[in-house]
Amino acid sequence: MALLDDIDEVLIPEEVLQARIRELGRTISNDYNGKEPLLVGILTGAVPFVSDLLRQISISCQLDFMATSSYGARTESSGIVRILKDLEQSIEGRHVIIVDDIIDTGLTMDYLLETLKARYPASLKVCALLDKVPRRLRHVPIDYRGFEIPDKFVVGYGLDYGGRYRNLPFICVLKPEIYGQELGLDGAPAIRHSPFGRPARVVR
Ligand code: IMP
Ligand code: MG
Repeated sequence: MALLDDIDEVLIPEEVLQARIRELGRTISNDYNGKEPLLVGILTGAVPFVSDLLRQISISCQLDFMATSSYGARTESSGIVRILKDLEQSIEGRHVIIVDDIIDTGLTMDYLLETLKARYPASLKVCALLDKVPRRLRHVPIDYRGFEIPDKFVVGYGLDYGGRYRNLPFICVLKPEIYGQELGLDGAPAIRHSPFGRPARVVR
């Protein structure tokens, strides 16, 4: 399938993404000089970002992952987030940076911050590639932010629509007709989406 045919608009080209990630890596390297931060990537969307970011950090650091699931439109305002995969290690006394692809409503990050704070890290910060400010329901302190984006459903560079488009190397918006389609070829239940709505149930 030719993914490029489905794209309406590229919001952030690959070179711009990579240049910003280099800056973020430099800033983190300076801020954590003398410490050894633990980067916690949030599966699955943050995989390309955290792997590129990691390689732009010049000090010693470690990497771990968490996976969460959240229930979409109807229950998301309740902030119900479940941990599907937890960290492999204790973070007590560690300098932790949570790395995610996008902060949208902020519910996922709010929950993760509360959960990880309770484990006594030495410090806890948030690094998000994208910040969709207009959709925020919870205040989330973003210590390292790649880009602010408008209220559009974006894909690429880890971000998916129905499990697809994560492999595009840039951030883009799909054609309106694509967002209306039923998806489910991966065996997951077919879900009807809208550009501004959320899947009924999505594993992030
Ligand atoms: P939040 O809890 O509403 O902040 O949602 C965060 C998660 O929703 C992100 O980690 C993404 O996986 C997903 N998400 C939010 N907005 C978008 C989007 O525009 N495209 C793809 N995924 C998104
Ligand atoms: Mg995510």
